[in-house]
Amino acid sequence: MKEVAVIGAGMTRFGELWNKSIKDIFVEAALKAIKDAGVDHIDSMYVGSMSSGLFVGQEHLGAVMADYLGMNPIPATRVESACASGGVSFRQAYFEVASGQSEIVLAGGVEKMTDGADVTDALATAADQEYEVYQGITFPGLYAMITNAHMHQYKTKREQLAAVAVKNHRNGSKNPNAQFRSEITIDQVLRSSLVADPLRLLDCSPVSDGGAAVILCSMEIAKKFTDTPIRVSGSVQTSDTIALHSRSSLTTLKAVSTAAEKIYKMTNLKPQDIDFAEVHDCFSIAEIVVSEDLGFFDKGRGGSAVEEGSTSLETGKIPINTSGGLKSKGHPVGATGIAQIIELYEQLQGKAGKRQVKNAHVGLAQNMGGSGASCVINILEAI
Ligand code: COA
Repeated sequence: MKEVAVIGAGMTRFGELWNKSIKDIFVEAALKAIKDAGVDHIDSMYVGSMSSGLFVGQEHLGAVMADYLGMNPIPATRVESACASGGVSFRQAYFEVASGQSEIVLAGGVEKMTDGADVTDALATAADQEYEVYQGITFPGLYAMITNAHMHQYKTKREQLAAVAVKNHRNGSKNPNAQFRSEITIDQVLRSSLVADPLRLLDCSPVSDGGAAVILCSMEIAKKFTDTPIRVSGSVQTSDTIALHSRSSLTTLKAVSTAAEKIYKMTNLKPQDIDFAEVHDCFSIAEIVVSEDLGFFDKGRGGSAVEEGSTSLETGKIPINTSGGLKSKGHPVGATGIAQIIELYEQLQGKAGKRQVKNAHVGLAQNMGGSGASCVINILEAI
């Protein structure tokens, strides 16, 4: 396998992009990434998207985007793994370069969720239709069950959940591409509308439009394009049961803990070696559970760790979601995994501006689909 580098990145602002189509959004992100990398061609491309058919009635996204990007006749593949579609798109591009099949590959992701589709129904297609969705369960409902179980088992407090949202909005206020750039308080979270008890509006990631893309190439040629290529040190993907009722525990996401075990083995790294992480905070509880399952904190300690500032940009031993996370930056589902990679890329290049983590050498991105039925973790390192 060849060593692989990320050499360029580009994204749109995340939010309600009323005046842009899904094609405009993807092409804008892809062109920015191509320009940033300084490449004059790409050999292949991947497009992560969860549900463009339901959101905007457009399938066949690989071909559509290659056409509008002016890249015919290169291979162009759409990748779907619910909200992990972007992370898996990156992993596919990584393998294509690592295998020697292609030299320069674009990994992108896009979603246009605000064009009038029934978003809650479309998102729910990532859950078990027969046993969960037909019974009336939504994604906020599934994560509310996980929240209640965690609060019961580990005495996690409502204020600790709110602290995740407060931290991520604070980080997002420093990110020009974030959907919500306003800081919020614990009190505002606790007083926001109830969505699925005990989760409130400000515990939830929003409905978003957005696109993101990165350029990967072999390390052999990376120095032709940039003095600071960022190495892809490892990539793993796992799966778990679709339905929550089939799991032995609601307070651990097994796809995440298994992926963590594998990636640390693959990269010879330990949780303590990770300088910062982007994790899938689709709901505040998700960041808490994932930070435990990645081994950053003991099981049950994720809530107090956030409250104590251990994950903050300013004082944390492991800053989490410096981009603002899904909560504040936004969650156009197919683009999210790539946007996480972009945050790693900018931090590792020392170009994250007001969000810069000091001494950032190793970054981890964790992206998952549904209530954790699919998970992908990628680790990037400055060289
Ligand atoms: N965080 C902060 N503010 C939010 C928000 C969020 N998640 N969602 C909406 N808002 C704001 C809007 O900007 C709007 O503000 P305004 O009145 O100042 O313009 C206001 O709240 C109402 O917005 P609206 O679009 O009517 O909210 P909604 O009630 O239709 O949707 C949720 C709110 C939480 C139900 C929706 O964001 C949601 O479903 N989120 C979860 C998405 C999801 O499940 N993703 C997949 C994860 S696996």
